[in-house]
Amino acid sequence: IAIPPFKNEPFIDFTQPQSAKAMEEAIAKAKADLGREYPLHIGPEKRFTDDKIVSVNPGDLDMVVGYVSKADRELAEEAMQAALAAFESWKKVPAAERAQYLLRAAKLMRERKLEFSAVMVLEAGKNYAEADVETAEAIDFLEFYAREMIRLDSINETMPLVQLAGETNRLRYIPLGVGIIIPPWNFPNAICVGMTAAAIVAGNTVLLKPASTTPVMAHKFVELMEEVGLPAGVLNFVPGSGAEIGDYLTSHPKTRFISFTGSKDVGLHISELAAKTAEGQIWIKRLVAEMGGKDGIVVDETADLDAAAQAIVTSAFGFQGQKCSAGSRAIIVESVYDAAVEKIIRLTNKLQIGLPERNFPIGPVIDKSSYEKIMGYIEIGKTEGKLLTGGGKAGGNGYYIQPTVFADVDAKARIMKEEIFGPVLAICKAKDYREAIAVYNDTEYGLTGSFFSQDDERIAEALETMHCGNLYINRKCTGAMVGAHPFGGFNMSGTDSKAGGYDYLLLFTQAKATSVRK
Ligand code: SER
Repeated sequence: IAIPPFKNEPFIDFTQPQSAKAMEEAIAKAKADLGREYPLHIGPEKRFTDDKIVSVNPGDLDMVVGYVSKADRELAEEAMQAALAAFESWKKVPAAERAQYLLRAAKLMRERKLEFSAVMVLEAGKNYAEADVETAEAIDFLEFYAREMIRLDSINETMPLVQLAGETNRLRYIPLGVGIIIPPWNFPNAICVGMTAAAIVAGNTVLLKPASTTPVMAHKFVELMEEVGLPAGVLNFVPGSGAEIGDYLTSHPKTRFISFTGSKDVGLHISELAAKTAEGQIWIKRLVAEMGGKDGIVVDETADLDAAAQAIVTSAFGFQGQKCSAGSRAIIVESVYDAAVEKIIRLTNKLQIGLPERNFPIGPVIDKSSYEKIMGYIEIGKTEGKLLTGGGKAGGNGYYIQPTVFADVDAKARIMKEEIFGPVLAICKAKDYREAIAVYNDTEYGLTGSFFSQDDERIAEALETMHCGNLYINRKCTGAMVGAHPFGGFNMSGTDSKAGGYDYLLLFTQAKATSVRK
């Protein structure tokens, strides 16, 4: 059957009362599952353990979302053996057939969009639109990677090799083996689905170790893949602590690749562990890592200041600034600095804080350690800049923090350099756009950035000189769309693995060239 061309899943408009009401109903329904116990998935088996991750709603700390069984090393080893066994048959399943599992999952997720989004509202503290955009992205990843695998599989037809006289030369992208998938909590549906689906459709089998704050969302995806008939052992579900099973699996001699999205510190730790050759290991492990960011927006004096201010506020405070793409820095040229800052503060002060399930624009941060880290940075910010708004905790039975803006921050200040991963914006003044770009580039990261200007020559210059994996002109620096904005960064932001792009599946395959003479 012909598969129609890829197109992005549309977003729901929650300003329409019937859409908001449908979401409220989906959340009420999701609440019926609160406190459910979730098993590990090891091959065909479901295992419940005594040791559980307690997943709590960050916006309402009395609400337990679920109790998720935790793997220890022994169970992780069993899962590894299940994945190794399943790989022997899964690698032989034709690419087009593997793609069908993703397409079926996409169809079901589309039918149950609000159901998936509702879990994120409760478990991750997303508002309706943030959750919906993410479920749309998860569907996009499934649809996109299904097509990509089919495309890669037909590479000999679309990009034939040179056929020397008397030879038939072909290239095939074959899978790697067993991979460890370690997704983040901040996109517990989209990134978890994207990372896992890409590895699987490429013919690998995986152990999915979900983020400890959002394991229920990850389990929902695992259940979905089971429902569409994915053979047992292809996707194993092993929640657990990084120190206990993350390190064990990363160091395992049979681990062929690790796909990680999360903080720089954890990414570098994994990189070190993965680089060591274990006894009996016969390959160099591949690491696909998407780490942090200290993303920023540069504004020059020709820019549309209203549009720039809106983009700065959206990029800084969307999902409480907990995106690796979050625009936590704004660098504004001095002649428009005061005017732009005033607009930024006006927009920030309009943001109301409250329960995600009641769809407040600003919700909680994910957990206690994030909360404490962010509050610590706010204290540092008070010594490094002028606090213009926010600067403290907000009310509610959760980890609520006020959207916080510091102005007149020095380019070298810690809050201009270090990833905070919370609702904190640092604004810095530059004498002109070139100095602003230099400040933007003065970072160890290189994930996203935006440049606001109406001057074509400067835009051309910014396109060349701003050093990041995802550069946007005259728009926010968050919200990459699958297929349109292949996503991944430079330097300490990771391995520039472009999720949602045409190169991504290559990271989960190895190319086998064959030359046949007869
Ligand atoms: N892809 C997301 C964004 O662009 C971040 O992971 O905001």
